[in-house]
Amino acid sequence: MLGGTVVSATGAVEADVLVEGERILAVVARGSALARDFAAGADTVIDAANRLVVPGGIDPHTHMERPFGGTFSADSFETGSRAAAFGGTTTIIDFAIQSRGSSLAEGLEAWQVKADGRCAVDYGFHLIVSDVDESSLTEMDALIGEGVTSFKLFMAYPGVFYSDDGAILQAMQRAAGNGGTVMMHAENGIAIDVLVAQALARGESNPRFHASTRPSLLEGEATHRAIQLARVAGAPVYFVHLSATEALAEVVAARDAGLNVFAETCPQYLFLSADELARPGFEGAKYVCSPPLRPVEHQAAMWRGLVTNDLSVVSTDHCPFCFSEQKELGAGDFSRIPNGLPGVEHRMDLIHQGVVDGRIRLERWVELCSTTPARMFGLYPRKGVVAPGADADLVVYDPAAHQRLSAASHHMAVDYSAYQGFELTGRCEVVLSRGRVVVENGEYVGVAGHGKFLQRSTNQYLV
Ligand code: URP
Ligand code: ZN
Ligand code: ZN
Repeated sequence: MLGGTVVSATGAVEADVLVEGERILAVVARGSALARDFAAGADTVIDAANRLVVPGGIDPHTHMERPFGGTFSADSFETGSRAAAFGGTTTIIDFAIQSRGSSLAEGLEAWQVKADGRCAVDYGFHLIVSDVDESSLTEMDALIGEGVTSFKLFMAYPGVFYSDDGAILQAMQRAAGNGGTVMMHAENGIAIDVLVAQALARGESNPRFHASTRPSLLEGEATHRAIQLARVAGAPVYFVHLSATEALAEVVAARDAGLNVFAETCPQYLFLSADELARPGFEGAKYVCSPPLRPVEHQAAMWRGLVTNDLSVVSTDHCPFCFSEQKELGAGDFSRIPNGLPGVEHRMDLIHQGVVDGRIRLERWVELCSTTPARMFGLYPRKGVVAPGADADLVVYDPAAHQRLSAASHHMAVDYSAYQGFELTGRCEVVLSRGRVVVENGEYVGVAGHGKFLQRSTNQYLV
């Protein structure tokens, strides 16, 4: 790969990247004799002149084929991982689910079967723990040995995934001992269910009431509570899909106190607002996710959190449901609308737009979308960096290309785009997964099943 600007989390250099097999062999000063000789004998030479060369994106929060309220998220591992590749994401970490009454191992096995032989890019799993008991706590230790080192718990969704404070404390105590990371969905689900029932009783059934019944204060409250439980347990905690100023303030205070508290946000909380939920008719259903989109003033706080590193990862929480027949399940009752937005294809481009708009630096883009997720979830230095020995997961990125996002041209298996009509500057031109070109000039040239399961180590930010 000759002539590009190689961008890492710490800087940008003019360099050629030499790939042998699945790995990066060397990163050498641009135009060196070494690179020229290597290129003369190479099977493929990719011209990266006037382009950026960045490590493939790592999206640590996706939901392919996820069950929700009698339906499944619309992307399979095949379509979803292919869409990820189009957008320069070469690793996804999806959430396997422990069904109530089953074991963690059964949940993981079910998701391994869904993904095996289908993925365009490499993948790993977190485990959603639905029953915290002696058996699942013991299983956590075994899963860490199998490369599944992070466990999601829910303070929301009573009766479905909800864990009470005692269960959360026990899981955190276990994680404190075994090196696992508890990932927290922090919304006070008990209070939210009261607000939802009250709204429906008043006849407030439109999608916009999804936001008003899940106020940001209840994300802040749950975030505070989870941090205190983590302190009692002596465990780290990672907040998924953080959306609210109040929740961010709790994370900032905890980090200022030196605690192992981490958080991600998602493009929807940076670019979209609760106004979308009030679109005419039932259109707002396209924007129903939890936590909900927030009033527009929360966006500036999220961008600030990315700058200060209180938010250290951008994931997508990709959980697509078609408007037709899936989101429509909630017509007449917003609480029955499947929760989630599509986004795995556009994370790199949307956050690059933050660079174009002067909100973050180029290096920070790479850090947020690739390097920190790799370190947070035990994949570094195999992933997340352009360096000798790393997997050749590489993106040749044209920072000046223009694109208009649209459901008509995206590759996700969903019938609408949450970012319909967005004009962005920047686009992937060539994407390599472990040395193999998978996307080139807008065409998918990979194969399903190229992507392999990744056994991850534990959180590399912990001392
Ligand atoms: O609405 C969302 N976020 N759906 C996906 C499930 C979750 O809680 O992450
Ligand atoms: Zn969640
Ligand atoms: Zn999620």
